[in-house]
Amino acid sequence: MTTVTVRASHTYDVTIGWGLLAQVGQTAAGLWKGRTAAVVSDTNVAPRYLDPVRASLEGAGFRVLPFVFPAGEAHKNGHTYLNLLEYLAQEHLTRADGLIALGGGVVGDLTGFAAATYLRGIPFLQVPTTLLAAVDASVGGKTAIDLENGKNLAGAFYQPKAVLCDLDTLATLPEADFADGCAEVIKYGMIGDAGLLDTLETIDLRADPEEVVARCIAHKRDLVEQDEFDTGARQLLNLGHTIGHGVEACSGYQISHGKAVAIGMTLVTRGAVAAGLCPPEVLPRLEALLARYHLPTATDYAAADLYEKTLSDKKRAGDTLSLVVPTAWGKSVLHPIPVGQLLTWIERGLGQ
Ligand code: GLY
Repeated sequence: MTTVTVRASHTYDVTIGWGLLAQVGQTAAGLWKGRTAAVVSDTNVAPRYLDPVRASLEGAGFRVLPFVFPAGEAHKNGHTYLNLLEYLAQEHLTRADGLIALGGGVVGDLTGFAAATYLRGIPFLQVPTTLLAAVDASVGGKTAIDLENGKNLAGAFYQPKAVLCDLDTLATLPEADFADGCAEVIKYGMIGDAGLLDTLETIDLRADPEEVVARCIAHKRDLVEQDEFDTGARQLLNLGHTIGHGVEACSGYQISHGKAVAIGMTLVTRGAVAAGLCPPEVLPRLEALLARYHLPTATDYAAADLYEKTLSDKKRAGDTLSLVVPTAWGKSVLHPIPVGQLLTWIERGLGQ
């Protein structure tokens, strides 16, 4: 078992290990005084993990309120959010009680936003069940729901009281979902951990994920502690996300987040090579690493379409965009560009 402590608005532990679902009750009992816990999950995760979590909570003396919504990004919306708040109010959840997010990034984002806003804020515990949520979404306090006009457009920075990352849940993930998380793992390497990239070229991550998961979380912890509210260093975590957002949007969100990020990382690296900012040998090595983890490195979408969709992303600040650009194997920098220049980056990224 490994513990990573995050010192943000408040200090909390991220615990990574096997068999941790059985400790949810005991952990929650140490986080809030009330004895009610609302467990938020989705229709993919609840059939598998709600019962053991409920048993753990009841064993620790909790009244358990399950809230299960249909799986998928399409349901991370205002409708599900308000249904959840109404349910909490109907069941008289108080500020002394808490929420538990049991699932992937969609569940974590929605639960966190509900926790941030119900009664102006109640405690919540993150229990990520995907690799992507374990290494990224569950840590650092970004909570959100999607609006009709785009992803994560309503949200809050609101840190969890703790994160319990049970590696057993990662072992049973479908291959494609595991690959999505691998894109974020490779991202950590590309923004500042060449040693991690070297390790990823040889290990069997699925068989033995603990060290790598903890290393990614510690990396994120360092960035969140420097820049909790995402005005500087934390933006490095957006490597591959700006163009990746365009890929996701062009596909009508049929291409998953991790795969879109993999494509985005490849395109921005090719653009950096073309601009003379990154040594050429980085690109084939990155493409080979992404392929090793069953991730795509190319897209058929046209540059103009990707550009238009990318512009709806919230990472813009006025007419400037802070693009995250690789400058070496295991190193990236924030590279502010006028928004209009992004089209050139995308064209170069596509090899045009
Ligand atoms: N997912 C990127 C961040 O938490 O900043």
